Amino acid sequence: MIRFKEVWKTFPDGNTVVKNLNLEIQEGETLVILGKSGSGKTTTLKLINRLIDLTKGELYVKGKNILSIDPIYLRRNIGYAVQEIGLFPHMTVEDNIAIVPKLLGWDRKKIDDRIDQLMEMLGLDPSEFRKRYPLKLSGGQRQRIGVARALAADPPIILMDEPFGALDPMTREKTQKEFLELESKIKKTIVFVTHDLYEAVTMGDRIALMDQGELLQLTTPRAFVENPPSAFSDEFLGQHRFQLSLLTKTIIECMDPSSNMKRKALPRLNPRSTLIEALNTFKQTQTKSLPVYAGSSYRGELKKERLLDQVVDMLTKESQGQ
Ligand SMILES: Nc1ncnc2c1ncn2[C@@H]1O[C@H](COP(=O)(O)OP(=O)(O)O)[C@@H](O)[C@H]1O
Ligand SMILES: [Mg+2]
Repeated sequence: MIRFKEVWKTFPDGNTVVKNLNLEIQEGETLVILGKSGSGKTTTLKLINRLIDLTKGELYVKGKNILSIDPIYLRRNIGYAVQEIGLFPHMTVEDNIAIVPKLLGWDRKKIDDRIDQLMEMLGLDPSEFRKRYPLKLSGGQRQRIGVARALAADPPIILMDEPFGALDPMTREKTQKEFLELESKIKKTIVFVTHDLYEAVTMGDRIALMDQGELLQLTTPRAFVENPPSAFSDEFLGQHRFQLSLLTKTIIECMDPSSNMKRKALPRLNPRSTLIEALNTFKQTQTKSLPVYAGSSYRGELKKERLLDQVVDMLTKESQGQ
């Protein structure tokens, strides 16, 4: 869907910020670019919609070299959500969301329906919020409208640059969860930039770790947490490893597939539920065991005791520095 081939970016001041980047982003995946501040994440993202032009190499979107695509056309077809570029303050929420659809010449009814649909998906009641001005919204609501605006014209690709960065930790976590749910419904190709480890592990199908303009590593969140291959990742992960494992490890290894527990009244886990999801579900239900289903098919049960054993085991290994 998006392919970087030996891409370099050097700014006019001589600063080389992206160094020989080779990266292929698959259709429908969420690729997180993770790195410290100044590592070149934002620059890399802006190369994709030509807010910045590359110095050397080739960059393809849907098989087309981006230098052959009109930048205006490109930008209308790629959603872009950023923390700093806020909403237009003199425009209502609905007008902010409608910007690109209007540019594309959609008719009024189609635009109206789209606004309602997006706002409902993002948990903002259209009748209450459509006519509001951005200043009359909370930070979290503004960021959600920013996301709605990026999604408005239904672009196949969405670029997000620390889109939840301005939120307080609680709202942030909630917005991340909502976005994940939304994402599973819309199936877009998303490139998501963050410096936050937890956000990267939660949001990404894959994580591209960047440092000083170079791609250091490209892996799944789970592999990233479990086997950071370079000293850099290890240092970056540091003491977070255990908590991150709870977010990435699934219950598949500690569930009991042979048992036959079909109690329908309990909430269900699925084999891909993470340890943290399972822990939270146990906390809410106060039961000793939960059924595991893949879709509608029963797969076994997870005992709370087994889960806690696994967690203790992980903690022990962690404290022994393994
Ligand atoms: N227009 C520019 N001219 C020169 N240097 C720049 C420009 N924009 C960014 N940089 C530099 O490029 C490096 C990477 O910046 P950026 O891509 O914004 O990093 P990140 O998003 O990872 O924090 C930084 O050192 C930054 O100062
Ligand atoms: Mg940045």
